[in-house]
Amino acid sequence: MKIAIYPGSFDPITNGHLDILNRACKIFDKVIVLVADNPKKKSRFSPKERVEMIKETVDNPNVVIDSFSGLTVEYAKSNGATHLIRGLRAVTDFEYEFQLASANDFVDNNIDTVFLMSKNDKSFINSSMIMELHEAGVDVSSLVPESVNKRLK
Ligand code: COA
Repeated sequence: MKIAIYPGSFDPITNGHLDILNRACKIFDKVIVLVADNPKKKSRFSPKERVEMIKETVDNPNVVIDSFSGLTVEYAKSNGATHLIRGLRAVTDFEYEFQLASANDFVDNNIDTVFLMSKNDKSFINSSMIMELHEAGVDVSSLVPESVNKRLK
């Protein structure tokens, strides 16, 4: 069974993340969406809320949703995963993703990162931008799942 981890802050999950997840499910038998810590970021929603929003959105028996604070690669190893999934939206993502993939490879070179390109119409989305637009009164309901919308309201 091929297992992959899709790690991220998911603060909150967006339709862009869901697009990557759905496509990853076509490649792997099981995908674990992992709400992980990025120590450089101040969180908007708690890890528990982020997990809840994803659970309310994703209805697929091959997807597991979890949270973890520690190294993603260590989590992958202890859960039998061989790959990490990351989405690439624009050239600007490349340098950061390259560093992250290299750091993960340094920790364990048996875990490989697979990159999926975001679809054009989703490539401008990120969680901060959605929150900023929402706080400015813009309707962001077409960019996030209903579970997120509900909490934003
Ligand atoms: N569609 C829309 N937005 C997307 C997206 C997609 N397909 N993919 C990423 N994004 C956005 C996110 O919303 C996020 O936006 P924000 O910065 O405005 O909040 C941004 O792109 C990047 O977020 P994310 O993909 O969640 O990555 P991250 O940099 O926040 O998290 C971790 C990276 C959590 C996976 C990484 O830090 C990690 O593995 N941490 C655990 C510790 C560890 O193992 N460190 C590794 C070695 S240093």
